[in-house]
Amino acid sequence: MKWISWSEKQTTGHVDLDDAHKELVDLINQLADGMENNKSKEFCSNTLEQFIDQTRTHFLAEEQLMDRHRYPEAEEHKALHAMLLEDVLAFKATYDASDTAQFMTLLVILDSWLDRDIEAADKALADFIAAG
Ligand SMILES: [Fe+2]
Ligand SMILES: [Fe+2]
Repeated sequence: MKWISWSEKQTTGHVDLDDAHKELVDLINQLADGMENNKSKEFCSNTLEQFIDQTRTHFLAEEQLMDRHRYPEAEEHKALHAMLLEDVLAFKATYDASDTAQFMTLLVILDSWLDRDIEAADKALADFIAAG
C-alpha cells in the first residue's frame, strides 16, 4: 500500500526541500507497507523513529534557511513544525505503549503535514527564496 505518492502539488521548486520531502515520504510508505504486511512492531516502531529523526533534521535545516533569508513568516512556520512534531511524538508514545495502533490518527497527522507544511508553508518559503 502506498499511502502517499509524490505529486506535482507537493513540489516546492526548491531542490533541497523537495529531496528531503521525498525521503520522508519514502519512509512513510515503508511504514505503511510494514503495517499492511504485518511486519513486526519493532520494525514499524523503528521506521517511525527514523521518520521522526529525519523530520527533526529536515525541520531544523528548513528553519536555518528561513533565518538565513530573514523570512518574514518564520515564526508561524516554526510553530507549525513544532506542532507537527509534537503530534507525531504523541502518536509514537501511544503506539509504543499499546498493542493496537490508531493508524488513522497517524494518517490525519501526516495529511496535515502534507497540506499545511509541504503544500502551503514550504511552498511559500520556496517561492520567497526564489523571488529573492
Ligand atoms: Fe519541509
Ligand atoms: Fe516546513
